[in-house]
Amino acid sequence: MKAAARARANIALVKYWGKADDGPLNIPAVGSISITLDALWSETEIHFDESLSADELLLNGRHRPEQMSRVRRCLDLLRMRAGVDHAARVTSHNNFPTGAGLASSASGYAALTAAAAKALQLKLSGRELSIVARQGSGSAARSIFGGFVEMRAGALPDGSDSFAEPLMPAEAWPLELVVAVTAREEKKVSSRAGMNRSASTSPYFPAWVAESAEDLRQGREAILNRDFEKLADVAQRNCLRMHGAAMAARPPLLYWNAATIACLEAVRELRRAAVPVFFTIDAGPQLKAVCAPGASAAVRKALTDVPGVVDVLESGLGPGIEAA
Ligand code: PMV
Repeated sequence: MKAAARARANIALVKYWGKADDGPLNIPAVGSISITLDALWSETEIHFDESLSADELLLNGRHRPEQMSRVRRCLDLLRMRAGVDHAARVTSHNNFPTGAGLASSASGYAALTAAAAKALQLKLSGRELSIVARQGSGSAARSIFGGFVEMRAGALPDGSDSFAEPLMPAEAWPLELVVAVTAREEKKVSSRAGMNRSASTSPYFPAWVAESAEDLRQGREAILNRDFEKLADVAQRNCLRMHGAAMAARPPLLYWNAATIACLEAVRELRRAAVPVFFTIDAGPQLKAVCAPGASAAVRKALTDVPGVVDVLESGLGPGIEAA
């Protein structure tokens, strides 16, 4: 009972921030829309082994006790379906910095879910895998699929209608992503803790939730029409609104550093010069520049020159989960 899988990171253009419940079901308060990336991935091997007394996780060669309850949650859901109760040894590797706002939990929990289902010989649909991955990390529900992906918040209390679905294949609109890495260390406040703090203390959180449905509608429409300027408008305002809600939390959450702002200015400057690019920022200081096909070389060059940028990564859009 052993298998391995690869899953890619994804970047939300209309973001998930806040939960409908804080229980193990991990149901989001809002839907989201993302792009799955080709170049940033997690590879996970899982071995269900009767000689083990408890589940074990080795992530990039290190034990990660703080991840164990979420890992166990995903494994338990699949073990229950397969009627197996062996503990598992999980060995996972990311080819990019972990926990720094580069969506390592998305690729990590999607790869874990895919590898565990395969090792247990479960034949699950993408939707079923997405529901399991969600319970490891909300954004992981989207990394099951490639290209443009939409996550539905759902309305049912058991979470059975809270899953991601493919919206448009990558080949239909091969956008390019440039990531300006402005800090390599892991962030101090995780997405999970940050969104829970925002939901429980930010006076702007209800407004964030109220505006989300319209952003989803416009984001979906912009993607299906391949309307770059419209997608830029929706994604940038949605990102700033998420950070606005976070900044208004108690204590405040500020995920940016000086270089994040400098990169944001550089992207605005490029836009003024008619380069088709827009920014988005997640729960960390990295700036992600989404570029129309063919525009990433100019954007990469501009972001490389910004003081405080320590690395620049590039990626096209990629597929969903794969065997590894
Ligand atoms: O899946 P989590 O718990 O790591 O939360 C992801 C939150 C954001 O990356 C900020 C937004 C998103 O939709 O991916």
